[in-house]
Amino acid sequence: MRDGLAWWLTSRATGIVAYLALTGSMLAGLASRTRTGQRITSPLGRLEWHKALSVAGLVLAVAHVLTLLGSARDFSPIELLVPGAMPYRPFWAALGVVGFWALIAIAITGPMRSRLGPGAWHWIHRAAYAVFIAVTAHGVMMGTDSGRLPMLLVYVAAIALVGGMVIRRVIAPPSPVRKPAASRRP
Ligand code: HEM
Repeated sequence: MRDGLAWWLTSRATGIVAYLALTGSMLAGLASRTRTGQRITSPLGRLEWHKALSVAGLVLAVAHVLTLLGSARDFSPIELLVPGAMPYRPFWAALGVVGFWALIAIAITGPMRSRLGPGAWHWIHRAAYAVFIAVTAHGVMMGTDSGRLPMLLVYVAAIALVGGMVIRRVIAPPSPVRKPAASRRP
């Protein structure tokens, strides 16, 4: 197998697994914000899965981009890292590039909640919804396999699960956390 072809296949595979990991991370994060999610999962489990899948998704996204450098398509680092610089399907590629940088920003600020304050932290963290939409459109429009049934099922399942949990979150938000009786006494 030619080297360029092996890198290209690796890039496609890491792109798909990065997408699965990020979808899983969104679902684990959303599970703590819906009543059903709270009922069927443990708080520690949700948080650990959310963190682990976010890190895995980011590492795989980095691999997805780096392996494109070796692919036969001869992309330069600027084309891969600057939104709109890629000559091949520039708009859909730019959605991946913007999603990639936003993922890095969300990952860096994730552990900085107390330093940023809850308002700013939530604002940045909620950008994950826009990233999900951007990388879904990027994968569907750029992917060689997007027209094949297994990949279509992946995208449809990811959109249905994340979309369903977001709707559930809006119509059945989690019950407010009750303070222990002792702390409510005057
Ligand atoms: C700098 C950022 C990015 C660049 C330059 C980039 C570039 C590309 C390119 C050129 C393709 C087409 C591969 C092909 O010919 O099939 C592609 C596909 C894909 N990308 Fe990205 N991407 C970026 C970020 C991301 C991110 C952050 C994700 C998800 C977390 C992602 C997920 C995917 C998926 C799922 C595919 C479809 C693979 C397939 O079905 O063949 N990409 N990307």
